[in-house]
Amino acid sequence: MRTDIAEPVRLKDYRVPDYLIDKVDLDVKLHPSATRVLARLTIRPNPQGRSDAALILDGDGLSLKKIALDGQLLDLQKPEAWKGFVTPDQFTLHAPPRYPFVLEIETEIDATANTRLMGLYRSGSVYCTQCEAEGFRRITYFLDRPDVLSIYTVRLEAELSEAPLLLSNGNRITGGPIEGTPRHFAVWHDPYPKPSYLFALVGGDLGSIFDEFTTRSGRKVALGIHVEHGKETAAAYAMDALKRAMAWDENIYGREYDLDVFNIVAVSDFNMGAMENKGLNIFNDKYVLASPATATDMDYANIEAVIAHEYFHNWTGNRITCRDWFQLCLKEGLTVFRDHAFSADMRSAPVRRIADVRTLRAQQFTEDAGPLAHNVRPDTYYEINNFYTATIYEKGAEIIRMLKVLIGDDAFRKGMDLYFDRCDGTAATIEDFIACFAETSKRDLTEFSRWYHQSGTPLVEAAGRYDEAAKTFTLDFTQSCKPTPGQDQKEPFVIPVALGLVIPGQGDIALRTDGHDGASAAEIARGVIELSAARRRIAFRDVPSRPVPSLLRGFSAPVRLTYPASETDLITLISHDSDGFNRWQAAQTYATRLLLRSVDRIRAGDPPHADKDFSGALAVVLEESTDPAFNAQVMTLPSEADIAREIGEDVDPDAINLARDALREAIGQDLKDLLRAAYDRLADTGPYSPDAAAAGRRALRNAALDLFAAGDRIEGARIAMRQLETAATMTDAIAALAVLAHIPGDARETALDAFYHAHEGEPLVIDKWFALQASIAEAGTLDRVKNLMKHKAFSFSNPNRMRALVGCFATLNQTQFNAGDGSGYDFIANIVLELDAKNPQVAARLLSAFKSWRSLEANRRILAERALRRVAGAASLSPDVKDIAERSLA
Ligand code: BES
Ligand code: ZN
Repeated sequence: MRTDIAEPVRLKDYRVPDYLIDKVDLDVKLHPSATRVLARLTIRPNPQGRSDAALILDGDGLSLKKIALDGQLLDLQKPEAWKGFVTPDQFTLHAPPRYPFVLEIETEIDATANTRLMGLYRSGSVYCTQCEAEGFRRITYFLDRPDVLSIYTVRLEAELSEAPLLLSNGNRITGGPIEGTPRHFAVWHDPYPKPSYLFALVGGDLGSIFDEFTTRSGRKVALGIHVEHGKETAAAYAMDALKRAMAWDENIYGREYDLDVFNIVAVSDFNMGAMENKGLNIFNDKYVLASPATATDMDYANIEAVIAHEYFHNWTGNRITCRDWFQLCLKEGLTVFRDHAFSADMRSAPVRRIADVRTLRAQQFTEDAGPLAHNVRPDTYYEINNFYTATIYEKGAEIIRMLKVLIGDDAFRKGMDLYFDRCDGTAATIEDFIACFAETSKRDLTEFSRWYHQSGTPLVEAAGRYDEAAKTFTLDFTQSCKPTPGQDQKEPFVIPVALGLVIPGQGDIALRTDGHDGASAAEIARGVIELSAARRRIAFRDVPSRPVPSLLRGFSAPVRLTYPASETDLITLISHDSDGFNRWQAAQTYATRLLLRSVDRIRAGDPPHADKDFSGALAVVLEESTDPAFNAQVMTLPSEADIAREIGEDVDPDAINLARDALREAIGQDLKDLLRAAYDRLADTGPYSPDAAAAGRRALRNAALDLFAAGDRIEGARIAMRQLETAATMTDAIAALAVLAHIPGDARETALDAFYHAHEGEPLVIDKWFALQASIAEAGTLDRVKNLMKHKAFSFSNPNRMRALVGCFATLNQTQFNAGDGSGYDFIANIVLELDAKNPQVAARLLSAFKSWRSLEANRRILAERALRRVAGAASLSPDVKDIAERSLA
């Protein structure tokens, strides 16, 4: 294992590989503690590489059994005889042949002892692999970098009783029993050259469901999803989502699947959500398994999105891969953009947009505002595992969304076609990608590309002036961006601001600009103004009366926008804006204002602020029945973390919690009858459906219950208890339990116990039970979490259990993680240190919960820093945790 941080990897040091590996033949004999891997690598010098270069293969903790060069065994005791050396982490040949040669490497792997869940490991009794980003080097010595593409043939062998199912990438060529032994084998061949990070194998005893998809050119693809025995029916929704994703990529992008089979395997021990290995996606079972009794509507939506995401990688990631890991957003940002568009098409588009923006702000804006801020295309890294961030993923997706808005749908689609055409089969860069759109749009995208090179969230400040006599409305925009680590000065960003002018009582008016401070015809036609300098002024003419500007419609750019709208203006937008996103945004802005005012009052020792007008605006929304899912979003106040981010510095999480609770209580009381009526009206009737419409009704009904209970705890608890007892769906059960969990007393403990016993044996449901308890904003929660860690259903080595209990405490429980005595910080620091020895990747992610520590009030800041320093100073840290600790403190 690598323990010390060497030099960072730098983008500017990129060099083509000196050797290429055209063919990889793997022979894998599975065994619980001693799997034998024989790798036969066909290697040749890269004509573009250096002619005198040594061959340096990556390894990571490998146990080498033997190695041969063109059939000649190398004597490992006498490296001087073959001019090279070998350690568990590297194999070097100083002067390899200048013609194609074959290296045969035999390694032995203890998959059962692999707690890092990288390389070959076991989840329960299933053998599986995770190779992205640098896990293949834990299987054999290799040029483990994404620009080395090889054709793989894999022979797998195992005990038939232990692993009747043997899968790898590509198509199955042959297989069968091995006569006279209890073992069997299978051979898989993947005709598409791929980087090592996309390699996968699975061996195990699993239950399968099968289906078929016929591509539009008429090729039949066999689909298989493999899950724990007995859970086959819970994979049906994932299969349905897969077929919809396959059809969508054909319809929207003209992309067909390219192999005869597509397999998905669900495992219960997985560091991430899922992995796009060519033809053999491996999933965290949380993103495959769903039944109404175990999965919430949110789980169904996530399954649909993650299945689509990994499937879409087949073109954006696999057929076209990344030249190096600095280009990670080339595949991840683009594929998130694609899965967002898919989900928007499957469900309500404005509701999906709101959900995506909530995630962006909660995760990416927070990251961009703190010490871990980095470019969407970074230029250095210490540990690549720490760069699978909200910035690469979510902001990466937003950049592509902006590009589409700027160049228009037609040039965007043509640019994608050009990209698929030109870069297929290659390992590409962001520059290759952007060049395609520059060509199809005939635009210079140099300034736009700053989004990839500058970190930080731009601030756009807008101000408006209405001239009654001239009937003009003038908007002034300025943009700025605070310094971020390593970037003191920023160049202006190219920011598309979608906008409209709303006349109270009348709605949108047609945009006409003034000749003098005008917008281009193209801008007016699209309703999108482009900011590309520090300031811009736009004057609109023929404006009959003072309008309310609706700015950044659909959240057209990942920026913070301020506009001094009055509360009356906000109410106009909440009820009349034609843009759904901005109706929701106006309600959030209004709530945020009230909350900020209350926080100040609470900190000054005054009672929180109350406002009947806001409740009145919510009442109007609640009574509309057009889109319940949308209404549910409007009824959901900004989170405590959202408020903390708005405050930005000297944050007091307790005051925020009090302010938010007080506002919920006030709304609950003001709208008591309406909420109750909505709750009754929206009750589920008819058979269960996971579709967006039914889910939307459940969401609004549960949002109404939540606010109602905030206003009347006793009656609220009574309703919640009844809902919990009679719930036909996990959505309703967990929503009721959440209401009860936040009301101290015996009823809560009884309900939690009953829930546990009803779902014992369903780990994914017990995760919800852990998560809910970890998020209780009360002083006793830390002890509760510590006790739950001793519960028989908890497991220190299972990432899902860890994230549910400890991760939710650190990320969702603002008051208790940030407890004023530092106990939350100490607890998480201790867990990080203990977990680091087992699973550094998960430990490092947990440590990034400290990413906002600098914005806290002084006392907490001192305590958080002390905990971070303790982690940073610990002996034998993994590079993963050391990197996060050091950057957090820098
Ligand atoms: N390629 C990633 C999985 C991955 C991430 C592997 C980090 C190794 C290290 C995969 O495509 C992915 O992005 N998965 C996401 C879910 C997705 C819907 C955004 C994940 O695992 O969280
Ligand atoms: Zn991905």
